[in-house]
Order: sequence, then C-alpha cells, then structure tokens
Amino acid sequence: MRLIPPEERLILALDLPTKDEAIKVVKRVEGYIRFFKVGLQLFLASHFYMVDWLGDKGYKVFLDLKLHDIPNTVIHALNVMSQHPVTFTTLHAEESILRAGVEAVGDRIGILAVTVLTSVDPKYFNWGKSLEEVVIERTGIAIDAGCVGVIASGKEVSLIRKEYGEDPIIVTPGIRSQSTGVRDDQKRTVTAFEAIKNGSDYIVVGRPILNALDPKTVIVEIVKDIEKAMKK
Ligand code: C5P
Repeated sequence: MRLIPPEERLILALDLPTKDEAIKVVKRVEGYIRFFKVGLQLFLASHFYMVDWLGDKGYKVFLDLKLHDIPNTVIHALNVMSQHPVTFTTLHAEESILRAGVEAVGDRIGILAVTVLTSVDPKYFNWGKSLEEVVIERTGIAIDAGCVGVIASGKEVSLIRKEYGEDPIIVTPGIRSQSTGVRDDQKRTVTAFEAIKNGSDYIVVGRPILNALDPKTVIVEIVKDIEKAMKK
C-alpha cells in the first residue's frame, strides 16, 4: 500500500454550478480536505479560475474532464492544462489517446484512464466480454501507454491489483455508505472502507458530502473508515 495519509486519500468532488458555491464549500471543509476534484460542470462554469484558486491555496487538484478525442486535439488541450496546478486528469482508455496524453504532459500531470464508469450497470453490459474483462484490458492499455493509473469502481480494484500489482494508482468513485442505501445514478458502489481495503489509493466522493447537513461529520466518518481499512 502506498504511503498516502488517510485524509489525503479522500478527494472531494466539487460538482457545483458556480465558483462562488465551490469556494463556499471549500471554506466550509477547510482543514478537513486536502484534495479536490473539479469536473465538467464546475470547469465549464469557472474555466481555470477554480483550479488556480485551489492550487494557490495549496490544495491538490484533480481536473476530471474525461477527454476522448483525436490525439492531436488531446495533446493541445493538455498543453494548456499543463500550465495550471493539476495533479491528476482523466482520459478515456483508448491507446492512441492515452499515448498522446502521456507524451503531452510528461510527469507534470498524472494521467488516469477511465476504465468503465461506475454508473454502468453490469446487468446491461453487453460488449461481448464481461465488464471485469474490459476493466482489466483497459488497465493494461493504460499501463502500457505510461499512465500513472486508472479510475475504477471498488468492485474491480482487487482484480486490478491481482493482475497488475501495487504499481498503478487506482482512484475509485461511486462511494456510498451502507447505512443510507442511497446510490443516486451510481451502480457499482462500495463503501470507503471496502474501496481502500480492496486496494484503491484514493476515493472520490461528491453528493454524500455535498448534500449532507453536516459535511464535516461525514468527512470524519469516511476518513475513519479509510484509516480502519489501511490497518487491515
Ligand atoms: O456524487 P458522487 O459521489 O457520485 O460523485 C462521483 C464523482 O466521480 C462525480 O464527479 C463523477 O463525475 C466522478 N466519476 C464517477 N465515475 C467515474 C469517474 C468519475 O462517478 N468512473
């Protein structure tokens, strides 16, 4: 297991419509979260303002844009992104796209390949292979292309670790607590404890924290779960 402090393993997804609302949330959880994710909604609303603002304040930033375009376009987009304080970004797991991305950013940004979205229901997965086979295949493509790691559901993390060992960074969204039973649009959900115990390095959590009456209490519970799982 990588030496990452438990409180840095929780990435808060700032899935919010404006920079003002995002800043309000960041201030509300100050001292509790070190790593934030800016996704499509907030990026489209704030351009690089939020990314730079978070970087200036010393936070780590995961800019999750899930790019899927021809290599030339991806290279130019990532050249722009490289001028900003971004720790991780996401590309879809197609070989030419990943190779182009890695070539463009070198070691300035960690490229994570999206395997199969956590909102995909295995019941309706009909790609001629099992969902797990696709995840394993795409993780292999990501590693060969030089990506630092992948985004994968906690359901497939153990499989990835078995096949590819400790090296790839695995970031897991689709985290839900057993007690509330709320899954929203996510299908392959696990708890924070399960994700880390199965081998995830980081978890991404959005709505369970953003919609909570007391976000700090939820964060504390999640970090406790992470700590417990790290001791297993
Ligand atoms: O609100 P919730 O905790 O479901 O948010 C999960 C976050 O992780 C969202 O920002 C979503 O875009 C992102 N994500 C995901 N599944 C992936 C990759 C990213 O849910 N495979």
